[in-house]
Parts: sequence; structure tokens; C-alpha cells
Amino acid sequence: MNLTYIATAAMGLESLVAHEVRDLGFEDVQVENGKVIFKGDESALCRTNLWLRTADRVKLLVGEFKAETFDELFEQTKALPWSDFIPENGEFPVIGKSVKSKLFSVSDCQAIVKKAVVDQMKNAYQRETWFPEDGPLYRIEVALLKDVATLTIDTSGTGLHKRGYRALHSEAPLKETMASALIKLTNWTPDKPFVDPFCGSGTIPIEAAMIGQNVAPGLNREFASEEWSWIDKKVWYKAVEEANDLAKYDTPLDIQGSDIDHKMIELSINNAEEAGFGDFITFKQMQVRDFTTRKEYGYVISNPPYGERIGDKEEVKQLYRDMGNVFRQLETWSVYVITSNEQFEQLYGKPATKKRKLYNGHIKTDYYQYFGKRAPRS
Ligand SMILES: C[S@@+](CC[C@H](N)C(=O)[O-])C[C@H]1O[C@@H](n2cnc3c(N)ncnc32)[C@H](O)[C@@H]1O
Repeated sequence: MNLTYIATAAMGLESLVAHEVRDLGFEDVQVENGKVIFKGDESALCRTNLWLRTADRVKLLVGEFKAETFDELFEQTKALPWSDFIPENGEFPVIGKSVKSKLFSVSDCQAIVKKAVVDQMKNAYQRETWFPEDGPLYRIEVALLKDVATLTIDTSGTGLHKRGYRALHSEAPLKETMASALIKLTNWTPDKPFVDPFCGSGTIPIEAAMIGQNVAPGLNREFASEEWSWIDKKVWYKAVEEANDLAKYDTPLDIQGSDIDHKMIELSINNAEEAGFGDFITFKQMQVRDFTTRKEYGYVISNPPYGERIGDKEEVKQLYRDMGNVFRQLETWSVYVITSNEQFEQLYGKPATKKRKLYNGHIKTDYYQYFGKRAPRS
């Protein structure tokens, strides 16, 4: 089957998601705000769910059309081939959103879409009575943007940031998808030292280890579409087998995480073990100002406190000064810091080589990038 998929992305990460989709071998890739559209067969659904590190979820596009009235929404939804995808026992709740559209009542749009899908399926399955909805989940979304309705079915289930390793998290955890994006925005390669001096629950070091050993982020979890009847189980097995074959579990890594809080170190160790990287990442309790190293050409990638809470501001200022004192001297190291604090460069004591605007959840941040000296070619 030739299908169209939408990989959803946090604002600012679309180009990274598109890059990942292309790396999986899909050529016809379109990038829009918050989404990356591509075409493929059933195996594309399995492979993108398993491999995409920076996307939020993968959705199957069922139809897209202009709808300014409830009638238009109803009739055009009813004309779509829902029964090709949803079996008679499928559970199909409808969620919705509406932005800059005449049909702004989301709950009404959801109810209309539900009724239209039921009508189409009643016809297709020759059924008079209610559907039991006691089978696998096919979560439908109606998304209206400037009067265009996009109808999708979610293939992922839980968001792709849930890799299955983070049982416990810190107070201000970074989403795994964002942690991965921060790493992918650098030139780090697994042969180089990697340090996160504010590791919290260990998300950035664990994502680095996964990238370093080419481990598919979805190998440890399940997806809603694994239960779908029209996707042959063999297609899933093949995708998992491919991911297992491509993982390089013996790639040596030099990854370190540290944090001032020993409870965070315990959390990180547990999470790294859960992810299968217990032997590959070193965690230790330490203040950033005590960091020293004799290694060269390393990478610091971190998400320090932002000082957003009243009372934390002065402390964070000193923290950024400490960071500057420690890392500015390491000429061969590259340093990457995400923070919403606009005084960061001033406090760190050096202008960044490059900055990139990113949203960490709803917080507007900058990703400050300091490039170290290049390693001589060996
Ligand atoms: C925003 S959190 C990092 C969250 C982490 N990326 C995660 O996903 O769990 C910042 C971390 O910095 C730590 N921290 C605060 N001051 C520190 C210092 N002076 N030295 C080292 N770590 C510090 C806190 O304990 C906290 O865990």
C-alpha cells in the first residue's frame, strides 16, 4: 500500500526530523510547521516509529480537505476509506484541534467526525448496530488549520519521547526527543569524550549512548499500530530485526554525566541500566565548578537550571560564571548549553560561536554553541 505519513515535530525541530526521515531512505519529504510529510508502505510506519529520535509521533494521513461548514466536514470525512484501516472491532476515539478556522468548536468537530466515520464503517461493514470498540486502538485526529481539515490516525500510541527507559525523572526533565535533538545539532561522534555536567535523570547521556551505538530508540517499547490487523506481523518483525542488526553494542563510548544532587545520580544510574547502557556511561555526584579533565576534543552538552523561579536567579548567575571559568579554558572542547536565560553569554564570559532558537516545551530558549578547536586529521 502506498500511504502518506506525518511525523510531528516540536517547533524548531522540523529540519532535524526531515533529516532523520531522509536517512531512513524516504526521498519525497515535505517540511511544514510542526510536521514532516513522507510516503511509504507499511514498513515505513514500523521503521519510522522505531528509529525517529527527534519526532513526537507518526500519524497516518487519511485525508485533507477544505471545510468551512459542519456539512462539508461531515460529507468529506464520510467519503474517506476509514474501513480500509479500522476493523469492525477497532476502538476509534476522535481528538481535535482548530487554529484560525471557521469551525472553531473542537468538541463539535470531533462529534461530527466520529459520526461520519461510524456512517462510513456501517456502510462498509453492512452493520446496523453500534460498533463494540473493544479491539486495537486507532486514535483519529481532526486538525483544522485555516479551514483545512487534516484527518489522521495515530500509529505511535504513547509519544515517541517515551523510549521505555525512564521510569523516574527529575524535577525539570528534558524530553528524550529534545535531548536527542541537542546532540544531533552537534558534530559529536562516539569516539569523542561526552560530558553532561547537569545530567538530572540522565536523559542527555543516555540518548548520546543510543546514538553512539546506533540503537533504535523504539526498540524497548510498544506502538499502537503493532496491534493493527492490516499490518502483517512479519513487517514488524523485519523492522525490529533490521534495528537489532544495525545496533553496534560493542562501540566503545566515553560518556559522563554528573550532577550536584546525589539523588539525581541514583536516578541516572537506574535509567541507564534500564536502557542497557549501565556499563557505558559513568555517573558521579559533582558540582560543575569542580569539573576538570585532561582529555581533548570533547563535547559538553547540557541543560542547566534556567533560574526561572524567583529566588533562583542569583544562584544561576553564579552557576553560569562558574561554567565559564571551567569550560572557557578547554580550548579543544566544544560546549553546548540550552537555557532561557538571555544573559547567558555575558555571565559565561564569551559570545557563542552560534545560537539557535528552540522551544523546550513551552519555554523559549536559545541553544548556545561554542565550537572547540578542530582535532588534527589522523
Ligand atoms: C534542568 S535540570 C537537568 C535535567 C536533565 N537534563 C534531565 O533530563 O533530567 C538541571 C540539573 O542541574 C543540577 N544542578 C544545579 N546546580 C548544579 C551545580 N552547581 N553543579 C552541577 N549540577 C547542578 C540540578 O540538580 C538539576 O538536576
